[in-house]
Amino acid sequence: MRSYTLIAPAKINLYLEILGDRPDGYHELAMVLQSINLTDKINLRSISTDTIRVHCEHPQVPMDKSNLAYRAAALMTAEFPAAFAQYGGVEITIQKQIPIAAGLAGGSTDAAAVLVGLDLLWKLGLTQSELQELAAQLGSDVPFCVAGGTAIATGRGDQLSPLPSLDNLYVVLGKYRSLTVSTPWAYQTYRQQFGSSYVTDTQSLESRARAVHSEAIVKAIIHEDGVEIGQRLHNDLERVVLPEYPQVLQLRQVFQDNGVLGAMMSGSGPTVFGLCESYAQAQQVQQQVRAAIPDPDLDLWLAQLCSTGIQVASSH
Ligand code: C5P
Repeated sequence: MRSYTLIAPAKINLYLEILGDRPDGYHELAMVLQSINLTDKINLRSISTDTIRVHCEHPQVPMDKSNLAYRAAALMTAEFPAAFAQYGGVEITIQKQIPIAAGLAGGSTDAAAVLVGLDLLWKLGLTQSELQELAAQLGSDVPFCVAGGTAIATGRGDQLSPLPSLDNLYVVLGKYRSLTVSTPWAYQTYRQQFGSSYVTDTQSLESRARAVHSEAIVKAIIHEDGVEIGQRLHNDLERVVLPEYPQVLQLRQVFQDNGVLGAMMSGSGPTVFGLCESYAQAQQVQQQVRAAIPDPDLDLWLAQLCSTGIQVASSH
């Protein structure tokens, strides 16, 4: 096979709690991550030169070394020089549908697709945990994006415990096209404002991370109780992002006023999602939010929660 096309789903956070600081400068987190079927399509093609090339028609996606998909390919060439020498370079074409800098792990999922795709293209036969170890070198959300589904994530976000899948629920996502939030800014601001209440000793951090397994939202997921999940959505980063971006706060309120099971910002935002119990409800919510906010800068998507991470769509 000389070419693989992969489907890379976005993620939302159903739960995000910031526990404390880590010695590596990141934060200790307790999260519940969920894949949704809003996806990018990534094609990987072996090329005869020994270069990595990235193509993407989206004007805000860089095509140079700053693209996380490029860095994923560079990591693979460094880790597997014999395969790189044997198969040559790779051309990566990204068809972007997931909005960027949106709190939906769009860049992370593209990078995960490059790892999975090069493993196939170069016939490396890596296990899922080997792929996730490589993924952790690229970003905190990349290991989750490899496997996808529903999972508790602790540590930097890279320690994963799978949960039963939740494919029967839907979300309507809303994002102002002109609005992006920097993830480092959101975490740094949180540290400045709330760092004094961080858990500092290792034992307490470990027990707080373990406690997420018995959080009400995790029980609700295990019982597939959409109503309860909607009520238990939680994201600490809302405390810094919502006051700074009143439009996001208002969007969240409009979702709540239109009968969703729950509404929340995903990750560091600024995407807001409304959780819905059926496709029909999601369609209705999408229309109602559009009617309430006719601003053409607001993009809305309807997606289903899904139990898959990176999937192969085709190979040639
Ligand atoms: O790992 P990733 O590159 O996605 O993280 C982006 C930024 O988010 C980091 O540079 C850091 O500022 C912040 N972050 C954090 N703690 C985490 C994950 C991310 O502080 N566990």
